Amino acid sequence: MALVGLVGWRGMVGSVLMDRMQAEGDFALIEPVFFSTSNAGGAAPAQAKNETKLQDAHDIEALKRCDIVLTCQGGDYTSAVYPKLRAAGWNGHWIDAASTLRMNSDAVIVLDPVNLPVIKNALAAGGRNWIGGNCTVSCMLMGVGALYKAGLVEWMSTQTYQAASGGGAQHMRELLTQYGTLNAAVKPLLDDPKSAILEIDRQVIAKQRSLSADETANFGVPLGGSLIPWIDKDLGNGMSKEEWKGMAETNKILGQGEGFSAPAVPVDGFCVRVGAMRCHSQALTLKLKKDVPVADIEALIAADNAWVQVVPNTREATLQHLTPVAVTGTMTIPVGRIRKLAMGPEYVGAFTIGDQLLWGAAEPLRRMLRILLD
Ligand code: HSE
Repeated sequence: MALVGLVGWRGMVGSVLMDRMQAEGDFALIEPVFFSTSNAGGAAPAQAKNETKLQDAHDIEALKRCDIVLTCQGGDYTSAVYPKLRAAGWNGHWIDAASTLRMNSDAVIVLDPVNLPVIKNALAAGGRNWIGGNCTVSCMLMGVGALYKAGLVEWMSTQTYQAASGGGAQHMRELLTQYGTLNAAVKPLLDDPKSAILEIDRQVIAKQRSLSADETANFGVPLGGSLIPWIDKDLGNGMSKEEWKGMAETNKILGQGEGFSAPAVPVDGFCVRVGAMRCHSQALTLKLKKDVPVADIEALIAADNAWVQVVPNTREATLQHLTPVAVTGTMTIPVGRIRKLAMGPEYVGAFTIGDQLLWGAAEPLRRMLRILLD
C-alpha cells in the first residue's frame, strides 16, 4: 500500500481535503503518514493505521520514506522543503496546493476533469510534480472548460467576485468581525423603523473609515460593506498577480501556450475581493471563433463533466442556484446567465461560481492522488 505523507492537513484547505478523503474512502487505499510542523511525536489523527505518531514535516529522511507527499502547508513550506527533498534523491510524487512550483516546466497543474490527457502524458513522461491551480481558474474551467476543449474560444475576459476564504482563515474571521462591528454601530437605529436611512449610512461609513488597524489587519482596508479590486501582488505593469494567473494558468492547464505547441488563448480581466465567505464567482465574456447557438453552448457545457450544472437564464433560477450561498459546501459548479451579448453573435456572456476550498483547492489534489493510486 502506498505510503502517503500528509502535510498541512490541519489547516483550512487541509481540513476540507481530509473530509473529502474520508467521504470518498481514500484512506482505505493508502497508508497515511501524518506530518506536523509543530507537534512531531504527537498522536496522529484517527485515520492513521500503522503510522500513529506525527512526523516532523521538516525531517527529510521521514519524508523520503513516502511514495507520495501531499501538502497543503503553503508556499513557504514548499520553498523550504521541496528542493531539499529532491536534492536528497527522493523520486516520489509531490502533490501540492501552493503556487510555488505551479509554473515550473516539470510541474502539471492538475484538474483532471479538464486536463486528464495532459496529466496522463506527463505521467508517461515520468512527471513527479502535481500542483493544484489557482482557485479562480480551476473553478472557471470546471464550468466552461468544454468551450476551450472544443476549440471555440478566441479570447475570454473574466471579472471575478472572490470570497474572503481565498486569503485564508483569518481573512474570513476578519470579514465577519467587520460585519458585526458595522451592525453594532447602527443597531439602535436599525431597530427603529422610523430612523433615517441616510443617518444609518452616514454612521456606517464613519465606522468603516475608522476601523482600527487590528480590524483590517488581513485585508488592509475594510471589506465588509465594500470591495477590493486588487488581489495578490502588484506586478508593476498594471496587473495584479491574480489577474496574470488567469491567462498563464488557464493555458498551462489546457496544455497550450508557453512550453506547448498550441498557442495561448488570451484571458484577461479584473479580480475583485468581495464580502462572500468561500465561493468565487465570475462574470465571463467569451469571444467565440464562430456563431454558436446558445442551446448548443449550453449542451456542450452541461455534458462536459459530472459537476457542472447549467442554470437556466431566468431570474428565478439564478436566484435559486447561482449564488455563493447556494453553492457553498457543494461540488456543483453552476454556469448561468448564458446569453449572446450586444457586441455580436460570437460574443457570449456567462456567470459561474465554485466553492474555492473544494474544486478551487482540495478536490483536484485528492483526485490526483487517486490517479496515482490507480
Ligand atoms: N489567490 C486566490 C484568492 C486563492 O486570493 O482568492 C486561491 O488560489
